Amino acid sequence: MSDVPMLEMRGITKRFPGVLANYRVDFDVRSGEVHTLLGENGAGKSTLMKILYGLYQADEGEILLNGEPVEIHSPMDAIERNIGMIHQHFMLVETLTVAENVALGLPSDRGFRTDLDAVSERIEALAERYGLSIDPSAIVWQLAVGQRQRVEIIKALYREANLLILDEPTAVLTPQEVDQLFVTLRQMTADGRGLIFISHKLHEVLALSDRITVLRQGHITGKVPVEGATRESLAEMMVGRQVKLVPDKPPVEVGSAALEISGLRVVGDRGHETVRGLNLEVRAGEILGIAGVSGNGQREMAQAIAGLREVTGGSIRIGGVETTNLKPAEIRKHGLAYVTEGRLRDGAIADFSVSENIMLIDHADPRYLNRGLMDFRAIREHSQMLVDQYAVKTPNLETPAKNLSGGNIQKMILAREMSGTPTVLVASQPTRGVDIGAAEYIHSRLVQQRAEDTAILMISEDLDEVFALSDRIAVIYEGEIIGIVDPAAATREQVGLMMAGVRPEA
Ligand SMILES: Nc1ncnc2c1ncn2[C@@H]1O[C@H](COP(=O)(O)OP(=O)(O)O)[C@@H](O)[C@H]1O
Ligand SMILES: [Mg+2]
Repeated sequence: MSDVPMLEMRGITKRFPGVLANYRVDFDVRSGEVHTLLGENGAGKSTLMKILYGLYQADEGEILLNGEPVEIHSPMDAIERNIGMIHQHFMLVETLTVAENVALGLPSDRGFRTDLDAVSERIEALAERYGLSIDPSAIVWQLAVGQRQRVEIIKALYREANLLILDEPTAVLTPQEVDQLFVTLRQMTADGRGLIFISHKLHEVLALSDRITVLRQGHITGKVPVEGATRESLAEMMVGRQVKLVPDKPPVEVGSAALEISGLRVVGDRGHETVRGLNLEVRAGEILGIAGVSGNGQREMAQAIAGLREVTGGSIRIGGVETTNLKPAEIRKHGLAYVTEGRLRDGAIADFSVSENIMLIDHADPRYLNRGLMDFRAIREHSQMLVDQYAVKTPNLETPAKNLSGGNIQKMILAREMSGTPTVLVASQPTRGVDIGAAEYIHSRLVQQRAEDTAILMISEDLDEVFALSDRIAVIYEGEIIGIVDPAAATREQVGLMMAGVRPEA
């Protein structure tokens, strides 16, 4: 390995109106390594990489490639210098084939047709070498997300990218696809490429990186080798204070079954039965975590519990009362609170203000009525308290919900759903898209709710979250619970296997 880094970015500063996106950032990558950029949403990771890829110009600072200062004014400049970028949002033409997408923009000195055959051949060779199984003649719109990402990677490799930027590549992948991607990336570094990996998922960062640079509000707050780094130490650099990734969970006496699901059958959007005879009990005072790959019926199960989707077979009881196919409002009256994964679509009303959204379910509460009329002062105080407690970032209480970021909408919905004392709380992806600090708070609130004897059904695609919070973990696969394990005794690998459909030994 040579002493000169492939890439050096020195003293990069970039300002947007009112925002210091990068401030005097130094960042370098050596051949054969994965150097991770870690940071919360808005920390400045994408901006730094867009500067490297020629999409933005830095206000200050310089870029050196193999020790030589360079100017990168456009992605074309970047590609010419063997820099590739896999964006958070793919840039493929839906109506073209894989090979056509890869060939797009390449100089063509022969007929397009003969070129395409050659392109396909090379795609197959690259796919084989890097474990990126793909059909060059497939049309992009037919491909699943994970396959589209492979096309993007092949496209970069085809253009002989030596330095590859991967901006949150795992955000759209299943755990199995993530494992597969990491094998590909490892092969690339073995071939001497340098990789810049962007993520905020700590276990992935620890699994893949050689070095880690942490950004917070545009500043570098840490630069460490992976050896010796822990999830806790990284989280502290990201947030700027110690963070409890695993909440303190005092033991609670578990009560009787508050949510009883038996033989549940539900049909999904495409007309297929996605919940197929599911049985589950959640007891008062426990957090039951549902682990599973997205699309195995968890969404339909949650919607059926909440009365938002028809139950076609089986039954649901809340607090001993049959609630199967009741109206959502009636199910609520029987003690259900529901934190949806849909965010704005079915968790909030976009044009309503933050305050109105928070009060959606509480408007008939005597605390907010004064001689039969709405007590606006009490409502304001209550909403303001929840906004403060849940750290919902909003200009004010009158701001329409649609103007908030996804993470803040999530916090607003949680504030509303968890402000009462429900018998059963169904929380779908409770911290997806929120900052670590907010996730810590949400977790502590879930634990608090558990101490108040709520039965909590938590659905999460984040295994760390499932392990950190659950008293029991149930694994859902193809619409059934295929096993329930004790998080203190089970490993991630065991749960991962069950998520892939491998039934635990009896
Ligand atoms: N084109 C832009 N115009 C104005 N502000 C921007 C632009 N791009 C990014 N920002 C702001 O710069 C900051 C850093 O954003 P970004 O680099 O996307 O963060 P990250 O990728 O770490 O989530 C954020 O406050 C973001 O709102
Ligand atoms: Mg980004």
